[in-house]
Amino acid sequence: MTEQRIALVTGANQGIGFAFVEALADRLNAEDLVLLTGRDPQRVGDAVRQVHGVARVEGRVLDVTDSEAVAALAAELGAVDIVISNAVGPLHPDRTQAEQADVFIDVANLGAQAVLRSFGPILKPGGRLIVVASSLGTLDHLPEELWPRFDGVTLGEVEQAVEDWRAAIHAGEQGWPEWINFPSKVAQVAAVRAVAADRRTQDLADGTLVASVCPGLVDTRASRPWFDDFSEAKSPADAVTPIVDLILADHLDPAMYGELIRDGKVLPWKPSR
Ligand SMILES: NC(=O)c1ccc[n+]([C@@H]2O[C@H](COP(=O)([O-])OP(=O)(O)OC[C@H]3O[C@@H](n4cnc5c(N)ncnc54)[C@H](OP(=O)(O)O)[C@@H]3O)[C@@H](O)[C@H]2O)c1
Repeated sequence: MTEQRIALVTGANQGIGFAFVEALADRLNAEDLVLLTGRDPQRVGDAVRQVHGVARVEGRVLDVTDSEAVAALAAELGAVDIVISNAVGPLHPDRTQAEQADVFIDVANLGAQAVLRSFGPILKPGGRLIVVASSLGTLDHLPEELWPRFDGVTLGEVEQAVEDWRAAIHAGEQGWPEWINFPSKVAQVAAVRAVAADRRTQDLADGTLVASVCPGLVDTRASRPWFDDFSEAKSPADAVTPIVDLILADHLDPAMYGELIRDGKVLPWKPSR
């Protein structure tokens, strides 16, 4: 008998997160456990009832903006094999970016940071710690003056940069991109890079992967208000397939460690000069 593996996905009651749970439930073994987490008990329960895979799927209420709740769940589990930080709040085109910034940053950035801080230390050797970011998360999506805030810095420095960016939005300061998804995604990728830089040697020795990923354009609640044409978009199930392939691969390419990965390839963090 093999040892039970535990996988956890945040923001998993719909969209890409739900597709991750379905794919993991299909591809893990019957003795494994997939935790489908989300902020609303009803939506979590409804989503769990829709998954019919091989592995056991359990719902857990987890609001990723509550860093104490994230830490408490990590402490309760004690050890995990696969963690996917995926939650994102909706952005509406009919409201200003500034008025939506706090909730968006709290979910996407503070949420990912809390998962990295609490679940990184309990990741089993050979485990996978993945943040769902986007190809918008490379440095060239920010003005070059801002790159030092995110490049080669610690997780604490990324967290400070996020709070400085939030303050700049509220003060109406210039210098940051107006579309909040750009700094948000860069900060997610930078947070992963910071954590990975600290643990790289041991993780590579253990076959552990810490990375961010881009699912591509996917037809979900988050993307729907922003595009008219979804003919090029993937379904959530198709979008997660290459990511779950990466997660379940027996052998890791060390070149992917700590990087932003899309369709099995590393997206360069900085433009080549
Ligand atoms: N869709 C795309 O084209 C696309 C492209 C690139 C990257 N991505 C990334 O993929 C990830 C998933 O996006 P998606 O398109 O699947 O979005 P989605 O369909 O809007 O799903 C977002 C999920 O996050 C949950 N959530 C919101 N606030 C939360 C909180 N405070 N705590 C815990 N969960 C919370 C939502 O729960 P509720 O149902 O309760 O609101 C929902 O389950 C995001 O990181 C997104 O940026 C998406």
